[in-house]
Amino acid sequence: MGIDTKMILKSLNANLQTNKLYPQGHPSVAISAKNTFKHLDEYFKENDKLVVGIVGEALVFADLPVDNQEDYSDLTGHMNSKLIEAIIFEDGVVEKELLSFLDILCAEDAGLGEELVEEVQSKGITHITLKSIPKSKRNTLEVYNDAVDVVKNVMDDIRMGKIPKAEEANHIVDEMTDLVFSDTNAMVGLTMIKDYDNYLYNHSVNTTILAIALGKFLKLDKKDIRALGVGSLLHDVGKTGVSEHIIKKPGGLSTDEWEKVKEHPVLGSKITERMEGLEEAVGRIVLEHHVRHDHTGYPKSEAKIHPLSMIVSVVDVYDALTTLRAYQRPYHPVEAMKILKDLAGKHFDPETVTAFENMIGLYPVGTLVRLSTNEVGIVTKINHEVSDCPTVMVLYDSEVNEVPEPFEVDLAEKRDLSIVAAVDPLSRNMDPGAFFEKEAGNV
Ligand SMILES: [Fe+2]
Ligand SMILES: [Fe+2]
Repeated sequence: MGIDTKMILKSLNANLQTNKLYPQGHPSVAISAKNTFKHLDEYFKENDKLVVGIVGEALVFADLPVDNQEDYSDLTGHMNSKLIEAIIFEDGVVEKELLSFLDILCAEDAGLGEELVEEVQSKGITHITLKSIPKSKRNTLEVYNDAVDVVKNVMDDIRMGKIPKAEEANHIVDEMTDLVFSDTNAMVGLTMIKDYDNYLYNHSVNTTILAIALGKFLKLDKKDIRALGVGSLLHDVGKTGVSEHIIKKPGGLSTDEWEKVKEHPVLGSKITERMEGLEEAVGRIVLEHHVRHDHTGYPKSEAKIHPLSMIVSVVDVYDALTTLRAYQRPYHPVEAMKILKDLAGKHFDPETVTAFENMIGLYPVGTLVRLSTNEVGIVTKINHEVSDCPTVMVLYDSEVNEVPEPFEVDLAEKRDLSIVAAVDPLSRNMDPGAFFEKEAGNV
């Protein structure tokens, strides 16, 4: 990739940063666009078309994968969250077009995907076109990663003092809901992805998947599921108001620090209150997700807890328990479920815990298990009829060697085979999240 092509990407990335920071019409926006135009103009002296696209997860430029992808994360993040897979520039583009294109692309009320494509066309921009990501092409992992981007964007907006738009959150939750309904096991498997450094983003997405799955299990209607999903996605946004060093602090917090952390539900609900277009129950969920069944917890509240808040409080703790934290090794799913059950009636509404237990299964998807043959595998599908007979992907033979070609066994069909115990993945140096990430990527 030539130096000038790298410059185009760099300046496009900078355009998006600038457009996020400054309002439309601000001189900095125009200066930043002018810079990109200069590079484009140079490029079109020798070329007539330029495609900036995303293939899989990678940014490609003029058909070649780009080096140092992380330098352009604003660009890829923005394209992903707007459901755009390519931006096509053509020779003849004028500066004014570029400027209005950037305005549309970054406008807070801009549409997503096909809507955005049409918006650009309708504004008379003829030398820059967008290509949207077809809905059917998006697999579980892409949607998962986009959801992480959405949470990150929302939190970035809040950190910059802006009120985030509800549209992206609503849209990604609708997409996640479609996938949870069509392939619950694959989506629940992805909740095993635990990113230690970006804990808050992945935790929010995992909580959302588990909440939607429980909502589906409880046969909630679409409106409630959307409120539940968006409420889960945004449940911890108030943590943007708590300093990073407290959030990431290993070990115990001082009383003052703890008081700060306890403010996040109220801070969060103040933000969601100001977001237009959210389902009504979202604010309740954000406010109440740490209020316990016995009305201990925080903030202090004697009011009846909203049923959707009860769901989020259970799945929130489940995801936190199964994640490595500075102060805690991860519990495997079977252990985490046991802890939830011990707290039913105290911290949690007992009926919600029972429903969650029935939904997630005796050996939840992602549990590493030892079979009666001494082979070890990972649960990939649960069986609601015969809960101790899930489908297991065998990964290690009876001698603890990795199986060259892992294979699935449905324990309901192999009654001579049974699960002896759950195994701690750390003892095998195994990462269930990476397993499901690879599986989803292979589809
Ligand atoms: Fe929280
Ligand atoms: Fe949380």
